[in-house]
Amino acid sequence: MNNTIAVMNTKGGVGKSTIVLALAETLSADHGKSVLVLDSDAQATVSSMLMTVSDLFKLQRDGRTIVDFLVARVLRKTPAHWSDFVVRDVSDIDDAGSVFVVPSDMQLTLFEREVSKESMHTDLREIISEVLTEVRKEFDIVLIDCPPGLSVLTECWLREADFHISPTKADYVSICGLEVFRRFKGLNPEMGFAQNLGAIINMRETTSTTDREYVRWLRDHEDNHCFESEIPRSNTLQDAARFHPEKRSFYAKYPGYAGEAIRSLTKEFLERLAAETLARTVPPLPGTGSKTNQGQTTAA
Ligand SMILES: Nc1ncnc2c1ncn2[C@@H]1O[C@H](COP(=O)(O)OP(=O)(O)OP(=O)(O)O)[C@@H](O)[C@H]1O
Ligand SMILES: [Mg+2]
Repeated sequence: MNNTIAVMNTKGGVGKSTIVLALAETLSADHGKSVLVLDSDAQATVSSMLMTVSDLFKLQRDGRTIVDFLVARVLRKTPAHWSDFVVRDVSDIDDAGSVFVVPSDMQLTLFEREVSKESMHTDLREIISEVLTEVRKEFDIVLIDCPPGLSVLTECWLREADFHISPTKADYVSICGLEVFRRFKGLNPEMGFAQNLGAIINMRETTSTTDREYVRWLRDHEDNHCFESEIPRSNTLQDAARFHPEKRSFYAKYPGYAGEAIRSLTKEFLERLAAETLARTVPPLPGTGSKTNQGQTTAA
């Protein structure tokens, strides 16, 4: 299964966590997929979008986060299994009962410092590889919410996941974030890297002429492989970040044109995933295609 996707842009505040949330909930509610969200950001943004603050604090206090798992396996070399850190039925949408999350914690930053100090990058990558190998078989889709910047853990996800998607705003700094990411991807190609499933234009202001120019620039650069669907700047998506303790319908959470945009993006996401997966299984003609991190050949 090629179903592990890192959501990444080195620029902060472009909507990575919001897109992870919306994709996970739409994949579950509209398409009946089981979706695991791996929260790899010390800010625990997507975790806080999927449960009440008190539930999140309790999980953090009880040592039930991705940090506790990684500390046990990588630093302490003690037994721990990722499945014991999965929280089920986390969405506040009544029809999205197949969304799961491994929550995060602020201590993630300290964990990464230890990994760097003790030069345990290889151990970390091995554990990440093991986790992804197993979750691939257990869930239909796995979304990894990465923090901005390029941390040691983010690098492991990017080298071990099947694909990455990159939400971006149509502005100068967000485009620079994509460019830094592209250069990073070009370094050490022998170490493997997730394949680009596409950039997602988020917070689109349809009436802004500057936005239009940046969107044209993004779409003109083939490397970006931009999704056709664009996500508008809307209060609906801003409000979606606030978890409701009372369950609501999908249409109550994602109404109107913002909801339509999210549904259209999710459909395109599934179509791309299916097409790229097929491309990995069908060998291209000699002389075409490139190697992915799994040693398979792809035409993309
Ligand atoms: N399409 C949108 N319309 C309006 N607001 C949005 C939209 N997408 C995201 N936001 C808002 O923008 C802010 C940043 O979003 P989000 O936290 O998802 O970005 P991020 O890239 O994950 O940030 P970070 O880099 O800090 O992890 C949040 O307040 C979110 O509610
Ligand atoms: Mg985020």
